[in-house]
Amino acid sequence: MSERELCLFDTPAAMAAAGGDLFVRLAAEARAADRPFSVALSGGSTPRAMFAWLAQPDQRDQVDWARVEVFWSDERAVPPGDPQSNYGMAKAALLDHVPVPADRIHRMPAGQTPLVAVADAYAAEIRHSLGVGRARTPRLDLVMLGMGPDGHTASLFPETAALEDRHRLVAANHVPKLGAERLTFTPKLINAAAHVLFLVAGEDKAAALHEVLEGERRPSLYPAQLVAPENGTLHWYVDGAAAARLAG
Ligand code: 6PG
Repeated sequence: MSERELCLFDTPAAMAAAGGDLFVRLAAEARAADRPFSVALSGGSTPRAMFAWLAQPDQRDQVDWARVEVFWSDERAVPPGDPQSNYGMAKAALLDHVPVPADRIHRMPAGQTPLVAVADAYAAEIRHSLGVGRARTPRLDLVMLGMGPDGHTASLFPETAALEDRHRLVAANHVPKLGAERLTFTPKLINAAAHVLFLVAGEDKAAALHEVLEGERRPSLYPAQLVAPENGTLHWYVDGAAAARLAG
């Protein structure tokens, strides 16, 4: 059974705090069930405020970080110290401030080659960490995503090959518009999650958000439309500026 919620927030800061609250709640549910909490962090700039909110002592002290398995939903093909690194951003904003054991921080080594082999190895690392064999798709507790002004999410960019990958969990994706290689969760892995959280803020996202949520279904042009958890909850957290073109 799948659910979807759309939550509008007055400011990016309020949206970030709400995203952090969801993280804390889901981590507490995992702890109550005596199991690790598996989360894939998103990249770009939007999640930074949520990470910083989680790193504050009031929130930090509510999470059993020793049992959090940290993954990334995508990564740029750069070294971890590069300013473009999604890992580097999360490390500075969150992971340097909370006690996640090093062996539970699963960086996407997207700067290595060949990227296809790196993608398959990362999928194997997810399976091993979650104790899921090849017959099943790993079900992360929470996958965080952002959305670009073109409707891309993770590194699933319009009209790129990874959109069509029905088998892999993680894909190497060439992005011609960026002239870049990326590693990305595939829709298959994203849609197996228990919870998927989109954080979308800013007026530059308004047109794409309208198309993704209210336009005709054109996932090759608006890849965020591919996100539909099969047996989970899809949370759209958006600020007023990004929601400006929504009719509903
Ligand atoms: C990335 C992200 C990407 C991001 C969107 C939004 O690696 O760039 O994963 O999907 O979430 O591009 O980026 P901003 O948050 O910077 O607007």
